Amino acid sequence: MRSIKIAPSLLSADFARLGEEIKLLEPFADMIHLDVMDGHFVPNLTFGPPVIEKLRSWTSLPFDVHLMISPVDLLLADFAAAGADILTVHPEAGPHMYRTLQKIKTLDCKAGIALNPGTPVEALKPFLQLLDLVLVMTVNPGFGGQSFIETQLPKIKEVRKLIDASGRDILLEVDGGISPTTAPLVIEAGADVLVAGSAVFKGGATHYGKNIQALRGTHD
Ligand code: DX5
Ligand code: ZN
Repeated sequence: MRSIKIAPSLLSADFARLGEEIKLLEPFADMIHLDVMDGHFVPNLTFGPPVIEKLRSWTSLPFDVHLMISPVDLLLADFAAAGADILTVHPEAGPHMYRTLQKIKTLDCKAGIALNPGTPVEALKPFLQLLDLVLVMTVNPGFGGQSFIETQLPKIKEVRKLIDASGRDILLEVDGGISPTTAPLVIEAGADVLVAGSAVFKGGATHYGKNIQALRGTHD
């Protein structure tokens, strides 16, 4: 059985207490998912490198940074210096995506590419040799608490096949509308990493562990 990683998205955390929220998640989570939004690439604004840098000392869990910003290249070094372990970009975020991914690698970060619901699997094919992670969005990027888009399930399967055929060690992450109901569907389709905001933070701090366990189901 494939091992499943859970990456809680801080988008649903209490933004006034992000450090403490990370501490509460730490015993149960495999990585921390940080959604960076610029009010331009997506219609919402969150935080940037200075906030991530302050959060870095709260945990040794990997920081999985999902960049929903455009242009993206100029800020990559700042995110790396702030302590990002994985930097994931959208192919629509810049005109020279191969260069963007190469730059992420030179900064000693893992490189990911994110596919919006409307972005076909073909968009990642030119970059497979550079990738450490593929993120399939199962909602439109920008907000937490949206409904899972079921039509993305065949895309997850297709990406799984592509990764397996590549023989490379690439994580397949799924983000958006992940709940105890949808988690088994994406795991079955081939996901390794489940990002979840609402489903993790639901009910408050005393529920975080139980909520994460419910997403793992019978998986490790
Ligand atoms: C949306 C973000 C997600 C978001 C998921 O653009 O990429 O990471 O936090 O939220 P839920 O799990 O509530 O759908
Ligand atoms: Zn995200």
